[in-house]
Amino acid sequence: MSRTKSPDIKPSEITDESIYRSRRRFLTAASAAAAGLLLSEGRAVGASPRLPLLAAHPGPYSTDERPTSYQDITHYNNFYEFATDKYSPATLAASLVTHPWTVTVDGEVHRPGTYDIDRLVRMYPLEDRVYRFRCVEGWSMVIPWVGFPLNRLIREVRPTGNARYVKFVTVYDPKEMPNQRTDLLHWPYVEGLRLDEAMHPLTILALGLYGRVLPNQNGAPVRLVVPWKYGFKSIKSIVRISFVEKQPLTTWVRAVPSEYGFYSNVNPQDDHTPWSQARERQIGDFLRRPTLLYNGYGDQVAHLYRGMDLNRYF
Ligand code: MTE
Repeated sequence: MSRTKSPDIKPSEITDESIYRSRRRFLTAASAAAAGLLLSEGRAVGASPRLPLLAAHPGPYSTDERPTSYQDITHYNNFYEFATDKYSPATLAASLVTHPWTVTVDGEVHRPGTYDIDRLVRMYPLEDRVYRFRCVEGWSMVIPWVGFPLNRLIREVRPTGNARYVKFVTVYDPKEMPNQRTDLLHWPYVEGLRLDEAMHPLTILALGLYGRVLPNQNGAPVRLVVPWKYGFKSIKSIVRISFVEKQPLTTWVRAVPSEYGFYSNVNPQDDHTPWSQARERQIGDFLRRPTLLYNGYGDQVAHLYRGMDLNRYF
């Protein structure tokens, strides 16, 4: 796979910044919080003029909480292929070449295929989805993603009756990702979902945030976002999506099985991890707040786990 720098998006497909802002104005109503949001967006969007805007329309399930600033979302990252601290990915991930890029869909599907990222960006209407994002380490953010529901792609490739899980794999390129030359983790990074979790309308493939294409440090050019699970399930820079019969062995489960489970649903009573999950600090806030079961998305997803012992299937 050969890849070069910036995505090939024509000017005609780029949303004018004023349209993006007026849409946000429409979405956020006339409250004091909304006024603050617009101000912070103005600064935030201006801070990254090099990344193309993505045309998207408002999608369902968005929280009306104020999004975390663009600066924080793009400068406080976990991307172990580049660094173990939160601040270096913003600069180190510049070495990742994200275009051209392909995503291969294979395994138990009737219509396997390899999708060029330029095609993937145009295949389905893109939506703005403002989601809560909860990291297992105890911090959280509110992130205005741009993407489309993964179930659209799943319907397209038509899983066979044997497909029970979906496995996602990050690009493996030790030349561009320095920590892939070490044994910090087992590479490439792997994540997985049960097929019904992958089909859930909250689960998206994200191609952008704040109305612009994803910065490299946030998982360019395409990542998973599953807002009711801990952030590590939201795998970055995906090159392969495989439909499989058996539960995939995911990176963190392989690394520390006693702490990280396959499901990793946000659960304030979770006592497996080294951190208490009862509370969280939203980046930008001073005080911590209580963490909600399923990260507050229980009305949408609790039925997926009915009858399951959450302490066993953590
Ligand atoms: N995906 C890959 N390939 N490599 C990673 O190190 N980190 C995970 C997840 N996806 C990670 C990854 C973790 S631990 C978190 S909390 C989120 O990405 C962080 O996403 P963000 O940096 O966009 O906030």
